Amino acid sequence: MPRIAFLACPATLPGSPTRRSDAFEHDLQLAALRQGLGSRTEVADIDWRAPLEHLVRFDLAILGTPWDYTEAKDEFIARLEALEAAGVVVANPSEVVRWNADKLYLQDLASRGAPAIPTLWPEVPGPADIHAAFDHFDCERVVVKRRVGAGAIGQDSFRRGDAGIATWRTAQPAMIQPFLPAIQSEGELSFIFIGGELSHALIKRAAAGDYRIQSLYGGSEVALDPAPADREAAAAVMAMLPFAGPPLYARIDMVRLESGKLAVIEAELIEPYLYPQQGPDFGKRLADAVLARLA
Ligand SMILES: Nc1ncnc2c1ncn2[C@@H]1O[C@H](COP(=O)(O)OP(=O)(O)OP(=O)(O)O)[C@@H](O)[C@H]1O
Ligand SMILES: [Mg+2]
Repeated sequence: MPRIAFLACPATLPGSPTRRSDAFEHDLQLAALRQGLGSRTEVADIDWRAPLEHLVRFDLAILGTPWDYTEAKDEFIARLEALEAAGVVVANPSEVVRWNADKLYLQDLASRGAPAIPTLWPEVPGPADIHAAFDHFDCERVVVKRRVGAGAIGQDSFRRGDAGIATWRTAQPAMIQPFLPAIQSEGELSFIFIGGELSHALIKRAAAGDYRIQSLYGGSEVALDPAPADREAAAAVMAMLPFAGPPLYARIDMVRLESGKLAVIEAELIEPYLYPQQGPDFGKRLADAVLARLA
């Protein structure tokens, strides 16, 4: 019977003393996969930093919830490469992770024609970069976020004249974008693709007074039957991914610009939450796509 590893980390593993409050996402995603696979395979959640001799006993390793990879990107990629060298199928593979771990990939997508959010990419931005961004974008509010990051950690939003700008510091390469008001009106749209096919879509909204849609900050989501044009916009981004075949999973996150067009805010290929509760066929689709990779 094939053995599948669901790669996780101390922030998500059940029973871990440092488990995060939003680690229920780990439980739901793993349960959907297990339900889809039934008795056809064995699935275990395991820390991606577990001894290599434990990890190489698996036939396939899914990037499940290794949320802390953003603090150790190179170590994470090296670990995936070691698994691949030992014959373990890694999904999504290290090649995909190398491209997707740094949000600079958004420039790559834009150059392929994807509708993009205007972005400044100062290497390590300081207050002067933030002040300059208001004029550059001709806007009243901006968002500063890490190039290698997730869960809105290390992210800030400023309005023109905010006192906090003067003392803002980061040690990380970052990016600055105009604040998109559609986040708070319509929300952020997510399109979940399994094996290259659209599995389901949903809309994520922030809690009152916040603009971050993640559950950690009180955000919530509902299933969405997307308009044909929006569906096509997400599928077009999928078609622009620079890999030979479709990834095991992908979450294309989009936000509407003032023009009415959806722009890609992220193409998540590493450890996105795939919102199993909004996708009635999700577990079966994921299981079938996993088994296809083992065949
Ligand atoms: N330009 C923007 N305008 C308005 N809100 C934004 C903007 N950029 C990001 N946000 C908000 O911050 C959240 C986190 O940003 P983003 O998704 O780009 O980074 P992330 O930290 O990689 O997130 P995750 O991996 O959890 O999806 C978004 O889901 C959205 O709610
Ligand atoms: Mg996001």
